[in-house]
Amino acid sequence: MTTFNTIEWVGGLDGYARLIDQTLLPNEFRLLDVHDVETMWEAIKTLRVRGAPAIGIAAAMGMVLATRNVQTEDSAEFRAAVDRAAQYLNSARPTAVNLFWATQRMQRLVASMEGAPVQAVKQRMLDEAIAILEEDAAVCRAIGEYGAQLIEDGQGWLTHCNAGALATARWGTATAAFYVAMEQGKRFHVYADETRPLLQGARLTTWELQRAGVPVTLITDNMAATVMAQGRVQGVIVGADRVTANGDFANKIGTLGVAILAKEFGIPFYVAVPRSTIDLSLPDGSGIPIEERKPEEVTEGFGKRTAPAGVDVYNPAFDVTPHRYVTAFVTECGIVRPPFAEGLRRLFSAQADK
Ligand code: MRU
Repeated sequence: MTTFNTIEWVGGLDGYARLIDQTLLPNEFRLLDVHDVETMWEAIKTLRVRGAPAIGIAAAMGMVLATRNVQTEDSAEFRAAVDRAAQYLNSARPTAVNLFWATQRMQRLVASMEGAPVQAVKQRMLDEAIAILEEDAAVCRAIGEYGAQLIEDGQGWLTHCNAGALATARWGTATAAFYVAMEQGKRFHVYADETRPLLQGARLTTWELQRAGVPVTLITDNMAATVMAQGRVQGVIVGADRVTANGDFANKIGTLGVAILAKEFGIPFYVAVPRSTIDLSLPDGSGIPIEERKPEEVTEGFGKRTAPAGVDVYNPAFDVTPHRYVTAFVTECGIVRPPFAEGLRRLFSAQADK
């Protein structure tokens, strides 16, 4: 049902990454061809490509772009170049763990091929980046199959930011539930939070849901309480940038407020995530690095000044929601309910892959 490629690789090892420039949506649909790692770094930093899983895919492709022209036959020298590329790409954005997950996966691959001809390693890196892309589409589809089970005929669902097809290889995480439920013929309605300050909900979520024929109503962030109080919403589903071992999670700024509201109104609150977003190395949400972005995103977003020059601004891009607000996590391996520490850990046991 989603008909565009958020990001893809064109050609062979001498090819390039192609991505939708999301900063231009919904007014313009323009593809950006990325031939070098600096352009990929900039694309991640400026949110041309964004959303945790898509950032991971972009970083994996960035690793290929950074190292494919390294002229050496020496394994150790090549590996050092790979490590430098990972360090560089990791500096683009701090919160979504998928970025680090993807660069580490590429580094592990290279380490496992110690002594192999460098040309063969380069080719395997491209194969791995493409595998990360293809796996993500399958993983998101599986999340959608589980998520759709939660949606009942006649319900209203609220989502925040864009955990959509535009944030992944395909389907999205939160939106995958909507796409699969649509296929199943369920009738439901989505409320999309606008998502200040960069408007991922208004610009991206409504764009992709509308294209797919999913009934969607745009609201500003400060309307969420009212639509809940009016009984229009029976479920909330969002994505995440990083889930810690106890179930605390980081997601787009404003998610915490939505979670608190959902609890107040007795509305179930779900978080749709692939395992690549779960970071068991952090015990709880207090250790998640939160990106702070430039003040202009708040004071003159999209070219129009809406605050006096020189005003002090605080602009964290993400917030952390404590696990007590989460009803369940929807993953590619199934729905995880409390106690989360145990349930999330079990996702990484050998059993989970069967
Ligand atoms: O700053 P962004 O647009 O990259 O933030 C995106 C989000 O917060 C998403 O909800 C999250 O990455 C999950 S995407 C499946």
